Amino acid sequence: MSRTSTVIAGNWKMYKTTCEAKTFVESLAPLIKKSQATVYLAVPFTAIDQTVQVVKELGAPITIGAQNMNDAAEGAFTGEIAARMLKDVGAGFVILGHSERRQIFNETSAFINKKVKRALKDSLQPILCIGETLAQHESGETESVLKGQLQGSLEGVTSEELSKMIIAYEPVWAIGTGKVAHPDDAEKAHAFVRSVLAEAWGKEVADHIVIQYGGSVKPENAVDLIRQPNIDGLLVGGASLSADTFSKIINGLLA
Ligand code: PGA
Repeated sequence: MSRTSTVIAGNWKMYKTTCEAKTFVESLAPLIKKSQATVYLAVPFTAIDQTVQVVKELGAPITIGAQNMNDAAEGAFTGEIAARMLKDVGAGFVILGHSERRQIFNETSAFINKKVKRALKDSLQPILCIGETLAQHESGETESVLKGQLQGSLEGVTSEELSKMIIAYEPVWAIGTGKVAHPDDAEKAHAFVRSVLAEAWGKEVADHIVIQYGGSVKPENAVDLIRQPNIDGLLVGGASLSADTFSKIINGLLA
């Protein structure tokens, strides 16, 4: 497998005002100057515009994105946001199917599939999240859950479209719990995800697609995870809220 680039993405969830976001980027930019990783930051909708401007002004190598969107191009959907609107303020990517969306907001793979297709159509790169719950993990259902989520969320997506995406494996039991997956177990899940992609969309796209690990990533465990051959990047929640901690994860990968 030839790894294209290590993609480290921060997911701020519902944290940070525009002012806090600006301060964060100003602090992070000088700290990651030497990094060879590709750095993404999924910020709240309200902070996208300004964060994009600050990144531009500083010439910082950070791509700003969103954490969710609606599947429609536009329309009477009070409170929703469209891919075109996210692109309009400079978003380069969108996280779709995060477990918090699946669990708290009851998003199904069929619905996520519509969003994936819309994002692709409107030229916004999707980061598709998949992952098993603790109960599914303990009852040995991890692989069947991952396969089902991939098939459901990617139905009708072509190999060419898939090649533009990122997949994030995030075991639900590891998100925000401090319980990171053992690198060997994460590697096993990543290799399985890659094999499912290869089977359905071809070896070429499966070999090159970035598969991120997410769930309690910290500076202390990031290096052991990224060393695994099938882990091509990290999706970082809590530890991406501090510029100092996030930069340690990004720069630690250089060592
Ligand atoms: P965490 O979150 O790093 O705080 O566990 C990861 C995520 O939800 O993407």
